[in-house]
Amino acid sequence: MFENISEGKNYKSLFNGEWVKSKSGKTIQLKSPVDETVIGEIQSLSQEEVNDILENSKAAQIKWGETPINERAEVLFKAAELLEENVEEIAKIMQAEIAKDSKSAVSEVKRTVDFIKFTASEGKHIEGETIGGDNFPGFNKSKLSFVTRVPLGVVLSISPFNYPVNLSASKIAPALIAGNSVVLKPPTQGAISALYLAEVFNKAGLPKGVLNTVTGRGSEIGDYLVTHKNVNFINFTGSTEVGKHIAKEANMIPMLMELGGKDAAIVLEDADLELAAKNIVSGAYSYSGQRCTAVKRVLVIDKVADKLIKLIEERVNQLKVGNPEDGVDITPLIDSKAADFVQSLIDDALAKGAKLILGNKREGNLIYPTLFDNVTTDMRLAWEEPFGPVLPIIRIKDIEEAISIANRSEYGLQSSVFTRNIDDAFYIAKKLEVGTVQINNKTERGPDHFPFLGVKSSGMGTQGIRYSIEAMSRPKAIVLNLPR
Ligand code: NAP
Ligand code: G3P
Repeated sequence: MFENISEGKNYKSLFNGEWVKSKSGKTIQLKSPVDETVIGEIQSLSQEEVNDILENSKAAQIKWGETPINERAEVLFKAAELLEENVEEIAKIMQAEIAKDSKSAVSEVKRTVDFIKFTASEGKHIEGETIGGDNFPGFNKSKLSFVTRVPLGVVLSISPFNYPVNLSASKIAPALIAGNSVVLKPPTQGAISALYLAEVFNKAGLPKGVLNTVTGRGSEIGDYLVTHKNVNFINFTGSTEVGKHIAKEANMIPMLMELGGKDAAIVLEDADLELAAKNIVSGAYSYSGQRCTAVKRVLVIDKVADKLIKLIEERVNQLKVGNPEDGVDITPLIDSKAADFVQSLIDDALAKGAKLILGNKREGNLIYPTLFDNVTTDMRLAWEEPFGPVLPIIRIKDIEEAISIANRSEYGLQSSVFTRNIDDAFYIAKKLEVGTVQINNKTERGPDHFPFLGVKSSGMGTQGIRYSIEAMSRPKAIVLNLPR
């Protein structure tokens, strides 16, 4: 199935339905986050090659945009089927490439199968409308607007390392069903997994050029890509820093951005503390905290803090730490820069008097699950996104303080509220400046047909299957003017 995508460990790029190498011969070597062994190399494409790709994508989109939606949906269903047949193989690549633990890697690929199938079905139900002129004062029924949804053109999809398959597919599938062609720029670390996904779409019968890939470092090729005249929409998931940079560079190109987060779990006095602890631990530490929606701070009412911390500590103690293939919960972080950054947050919290409950142990890129009590608002850990297995607990006196600290963050992705009082839950939920509030659950993106969005520095626009299809299509109005 995947024999064409590489020569040995040299992975090629998908261009006009064929797997090709860069003419320059330039490649980027990818190493394991676990032990630095070489996993493979990917093409480092030149500007000239990227230009050729974007010309090809533009030409290919025209016919694809005219292809009936039910035929586009068939290609997506076929892609889902092929992906399902290759779950284990792709999950293994992810384990090697981004050190995702085996359970999470398998679950990412299976979730992507469901995502693609749902998108294919949903696309068939995207319909237009007819609007009569007489709704507006001064007009009568002689004017009728026929509104349909049409594709935007070429969608540039840029995905992050932490979900190289799912967060690539969640851009590609809605863009394709809406009739766009797609240029996928996968994360450099994570590119091989994403190239496997691209081959799945290719083998599913996507016409040549409707999906192309661009590999190369974002820092080198990114600005050229996001400012290219043929790009009609940018769908980006990644850090706030890079997102803001792209937004400046790309000027008037419309975009959808899902960026960083500092999701708070607010725990009230009457909460089911067992439930809260269970959700907080899985929310904070799964895939070693490398999720935008990870629980990244706990704001707990002081009166129940000791009890909650004990329950959290018991669960964190049960987390297994090790290598991705060993069925563990905590694996090495993506690279040494990420691990150094997390360590700097830990060191700052310790220096400023936070109480270490567990952790602060490091072996290479592996950071053991770390838990802090008595974190205060002068510490970096109260505000910065670690993207690692470190959880700060901030004690608060009441609901108003919880809302105030939660909203002082530059981020606004999600928050959780744990309480048995529905009035308090809704009061807090309404006041929080975030895209989604979870009542009595950890913060998380799924199910994937729900709207998923961040406010403030956490993003712009809304993902979620129907929302993504709408974001990557536009209304086209044809007005019929009847003689009388
Ligand atoms: P990142 O460093 O921002 O990279 C994301 C993607 O952008 C990669 O494909 C990267 O390519 C590319 N890129 C880098 N510089 C670019 C440029 N100048 N122009 C165009 N593309 C460029 O993020 P990451 O480290 O992969 O992911 C972690 C971050 O993503 C965290 O902050 C996390 O919160 C956020 N995230 C948010 C969500 C969400 O839905 N809100 C989901 C997942 C992750 P290279 O790999 O080649 O540099
Ligand atoms: O970091 C990726 C983001 O989209 C979170 O997804 O499913 O882990 O909540 P999830």
